[in-house]
This record gives sequence, C-alpha cells and structure tokens, in this order.
Amino acid sequence: MPKVKISALGCYVPPRVLTNQELERMVNTTNDWILERTGISERHIADPEMATSDMAYEAAREAIQVRGIAPTELDAILVSTVTPDMFFPSTACLVQDRLGARGAWGFDLIAACSSFVYALNTGAHLVMAGTHRKVMVIGADTMSRIIDYTDRATCVLFGDGAGAMLLEPVAEDEGHLGYIDFLGEVDGSGGQYLKMPAGGSRMPASAETVARKLHYVHQDGQQVFKYAVRKMYEVCRDLMKKNGLAAADIHLMVPHQANRRIITATAERLGIPCERVIINIDRYGNTTAGTIPLATRDAIDQGRLKKGDLVLFAAVGAGFTVGATLWRWAY
Ligand SMILES: CC(C)(COP(=O)(O)OP(=O)(O)OC[C@H]1O[C@@H](n2cnc3c(N)ncnc32)[C@H](O)[C@@H]1OP(=O)(O)O)[C@@H](O)C(=O)NCCC(=O)NCCS
Repeated sequence: MPKVKISALGCYVPPRVLTNQELERMVNTTNDWILERTGISERHIADPEMATSDMAYEAAREAIQVRGIAPTELDAILVSTVTPDMFFPSTACLVQDRLGARGAWGFDLIAACSSFVYALNTGAHLVMAGTHRKVMVIGADTMSRIIDYTDRATCVLFGDGAGAMLLEPVAEDEGHLGYIDFLGEVDGSGGQYLKMPAGGSRMPASAETVARKLHYVHQDGQQVFKYAVRKMYEVCRDLMKKNGLAAADIHLMVPHQANRRIITATAERLGIPCERVIINIDRYGNTTAGTIPLATRDAIDQGRLKKGDLVLFAAVGAGFTVGATLWRWAY
C-alpha cells in the first residue's frame, strides 16, 4: 500500500477585514467581550460577488503553482464546505472546471467544522489505495452568507476563507513521512445545537423561512462549547494513545479555530505546551472548513512546521462531529 503525504498548500482569504470595532457599531457587543470570550479581533469577509468556489479555486490554484504541476494531473478534487455555491452542481465540479482539471473526478463533503479533517482522511485513502496519485483536498467556507448580522451571539464568531492541500504518494526513500492515522466520531444527537434549519428538504426555502431567519446559523453556544472541549481532547488523546505517542512527541498541534478557550483547554489537558499549538483565530475568526489549512500556512510562515515534524490536526463541529489525524510533515 503506498503511503501518502501532503506535498503542497494553498490558501485564500478575501481582502476585506471586519473588525470587532465595526461589529460594536452593528450589534450590542464590545471588543473586550469578543476578545475575552473568543480570542477573535478580526475576520475576513467576502465581497458580494465572491462565492465559495472562487475562494476554493484560488487556494487550489496556489497549491498547484507551488507544486509546479499542471491542473490536468489532478485525479480528484474534494471540497469540504457547508456553504457551497449551490446545492448542485457541487463546488468540486465548479472548481474542477475553473482550474481546467480535465479528467479529475470529485465531490463535496459536509461535516461542518470537522470537514477538512474528514476530507483529508478521505483523500489520503484514495492515494493509499493506489488508485490516485494527486488528490486536491480543499476546505472553503463563506460563512458570512449564512450569518445573521443582527445576532450578536453568532455574528462575531465567523469569517470567510479557504485552504487546499495536495496529497501525493510518498517516494520510497521518504517512507517515514506522511499520513499516520485518523480517528473520527459523529454524534447526531447534538445536531439540534448548531444548525442552519431551512433551505433543505426538511424545511424548503419559502418567504416564511426567510422572514423567520431560518437560513442563518442557529447555535446554542454553551452546548457546543461543552462538547467541543470534551471531545476534541478525547479524540486527540485516543489517537495519540493508539499510536503510542505522548504529548512530548507532538511537534505541532493545528486545531480547528472556533474559540481560543476551546483550543487552550484542549491543549492543556493533552499536555501540549502553547508554543506547540497554532492559534490564529484572532485574525480570521472561525472559517469552518478553512481554519486548518489557514493555521497550517501560518505555522509554516512562522517557521514552526518543518519537514519531519509530527503534526496533529484536530477539529470539532456541528453534527456533532469530531476528528483528529496525525501526519509527519513532508516538505
Ligand atoms: C458563543 C460563545 C463564545 C459564547 O460564550 P459564553 O461564554 O458561552 O457566553 P454565553 O452564551 O453564556 O453568554 C453569556 C452572556 O453574553 C451574552 N453575549 C452573547 N454574545 C455576545 C456578544 N457578542 N457580545 C456581548 N455579549 C454577548 C449573552 O447574551 C449572555 O448574556 P446574559 O448572561 O445576559 O444572557 C461560546 O459559547 C462558544 O464559543 N461556543 C462554541 C461556539 C462554536 O465553537 N461554534 C462553532 C462550532 S465549531
């Protein structure tokens, strides 16, 4: 069975920045409350003409350029998102067309904030099956399109952004690099606590659903917080244990960026010191499927992730969903 590595990374955030100070003028909130309760200072917001496939395309294009390959070399494109341009065609199809990735197949994958980790695991198995040599895994979300900017409990949390990782087989002389393992779990009984109620087959779009603001994110923040703190820790602990790893073995933890307090509580319980945990929620907010590649980009830029390092990606989100995956960084 071939091993698989992450061979390139690309990211995109829209240029427009929405600061806490601007939010202070929009809803009854304060910079201090947002910073203290979430760790967020600002987030990027897409202009009206930009949709998820546009950001996904930019991220994938950068990864392709960095790796120096042709788009036609891609075998598959997986897009993790809860904010596709439309239900169908899938965002993967839109990105494939725009990239000119003739011959690739692909699909969208929904697991909310855990979806990038789930897509990375899915893509890894396509390569490890020996049937795919180049798989583009993209996490992209335009959360601003499904946020009610009169609801202070949710509008301060989210931002827009995208990232892409290219997966390829590991060369024979680099057998120690790449994918190690994955653990995931869903608990659908938590679905009620974080959802976009309308627009699907249960509650199709109507004038009434729009009037009742049911196409926006509805969240019981405390329930989500409790699940996140407990499960992100447990899934990381179990994955490390399964692989005989201690906290000291982890060079870098790249957690989903939903709330600074969730991240620090998880890292603390795992015994991973904060200098080995990437936190960039202050500048991006929660970009849902975009957080992990965006945080990985920051780690590389800051010289905190190098070839051979053991990296732990972990995420938790609506569903409820949780997942963690271990890789030895390959470039
Ligand atoms: C949303 C979240 C930041 C709220 O923080 P919290 O400490 O749990 O705050 P609470 O919900 O208990 O609210 C405390 C008070 O702050 C108020 N509040 C909520 N949002 C506010 C805001 N933006 N500004 C000021 N006050 C706010 C509440 O109305 C409440 O007021 P009350 O006590 O008068 O009723 C936190 O619960 C959280 O991060 N949850 C997880 C969210 C998440 O990660 N979602 C994505 C899934 S990955």
